[in-house]
Amino acid sequence: MLETRIRRPSLLDRIVTPQQAASLIKDGMIIGMSGFTRAGDAKAVPIAMAERAKTDPFRITLITGASLGHDIDRMLTETHVLARRIPFQSDATLRAAINRGEVMFIDQHLSETVEHLRSNQLGPIDYAVIEAAAITEDGGIVPSTSIGNSASFAILAKKIIVEINLSQPAELEGLHDIYIPTKRPSRVPIPVVSCESRVGFPYVPIDPEKIAAIVVTDEKDSFSTVEAADADTTAIAGHLIRFLEQEVAKGRLDLTLQPLQAGIGTIANSVLTGLAQGPFHHLRMYSEVLQDSTFDLFDAGKLTFASGSSITLSAACGERVFGRFDKYKDKLVLRPQEISNHPEVIRRLGVIGINTALEVDIYGNVNSTHVNGTHMMNGIGGSGDFARNAYLSIFVSKSVAKGGRLSSVVPMVPHVDHTEHDVDIIVTENGLADLRELAPRERAREIIAHCAHPDFRERLADYFERACARGGQTPHLLEEAFSWHERSRQTGTMRLA
Ligand code: COA
Repeated sequence: MLETRIRRPSLLDRIVTPQQAASLIKDGMIIGMSGFTRAGDAKAVPIAMAERAKTDPFRITLITGASLGHDIDRMLTETHVLARRIPFQSDATLRAAINRGEVMFIDQHLSETVEHLRSNQLGPIDYAVIEAAAITEDGGIVPSTSIGNSASFAILAKKIIVEINLSQPAELEGLHDIYIPTKRPSRVPIPVVSCESRVGFPYVPIDPEKIAAIVVTDEKDSFSTVEAADADTTAIAGHLIRFLEQEVAKGRLDLTLQPLQAGIGTIANSVLTGLAQGPFHHLRMYSEVLQDSTFDLFDAGKLTFASGSSITLSAACGERVFGRFDKYKDKLVLRPQEISNHPEVIRRLGVIGINTALEVDIYGNVNSTHVNGTHMMNGIGGSGDFARNAYLSIFVSKSVAKGGRLSSVVPMVPHVDHTEHDVDIIVTENGLADLRELAPRERAREIIAHCAHPDFRERLADYFERACARGGQTPHLLEEAFSWHERSRQTGTMRLA
């Protein structure tokens, strides 16, 4: 069994225990670890690192693809291993440590991290810790359920620790397309010209001499945490379907639409699944995380191909997909996240990007990351890569949060991830605002009328009218613009007493 997973015999004597591998990591090191939205994360070595830190404290900079599963970020936070964390996370314990100022979190566009490494603005990586489904005869690393930043971590790191995960299906081999952009400033165009393009290697080519240790594991990926669709997400999907149907009627799109991207989380996942109810067919995805919704669309016969950087599924969907992987494999490709999220490719393909906002303001600026303007939720992830470069940049959100205490449409967002210039469409369960080619004052009327919750609509309209009386291209009452958030900070609600 092991010989089929580690096909270069000379590497077999590098197999060590997770504890031995973890002992290679020293205080102050920069570690690049595989893992993207709970998929394909290194599992045994980081857990052994957390265990070791209980008696032998050390601190590191940890760079990953995106969020990790298996409570790894929690364990590394609780044992104070994390000094700096880049570029995304979604763990409650780490989030709290970030917001207490104990862990320095660099919230970064997911396509950019490896560019920073390559140009020595970040790094160098001391160790790459990469989960793999196999090592080839030449020593190439076959990633598992995600690629994320793993390829460049392995290529750029001084040394590599590989976790061979026997629970990851051997059939994953052949799924990956590893393409590394050439050097700037004379870089040639990235040759991805369709969702289906295969332009690289099915493994990460590295010098096998850099492999310092191999750990064998059989721990499965953590399941995704997305929740089922509800009345609000179904309504959001309904508004979006009607809008896309109108775009077809106007001759701007045909029923195959254009390549779709859907962001992380419950709302984007439910909305994408909802597209199965529309008249669309032969859909394709050029996305980042392939969630349950991708496979729901495949099974509904609506989707023909999906390109992503990771596959993150619920328990039930995981069983369905990996139990019959042959049914899906030739319709899938996984790419490094700098390629799945590359502005050049997103612009070329004309992607329809659907991402989720925490809140939006009356002019269409979007806050995806900072609760009440100050406290980190997860990070910008790939939403900015897609929003700025998409053919249609769509943001979805429920119109209220926290049991209706908070309005997701506010006078002014106290933190901006996506400026009004990057946002075409906003959808809540109440309706859809099409902001294309509108001036700020026109945008405000659309957003307030169609997206705001009825309980907050009148107050938003009143704010807007009083602001307009003062004038400006983008009218505001600066002394009042954050009063909704200030009330929320003090009382837990934006509602008036
Ligand atoms: N103020 C405060 N909290 C809010 C909020 C608001 N306006 N809107 C939502 N929330 C909270 C919810 O209450 C929930 O909190 P809980 O986990 O304590 O229950 C949490 O945010 C998640 O919200 P939910 O409504 O379940 O939506 P989601 O699972 O779809 O996640 C984001 C929404 C914005 C947090 C998530 O999409 C995200 O992190 N986005 C940024 C990264 C990104 O877009 N990546 C995609 C690129 S591919």
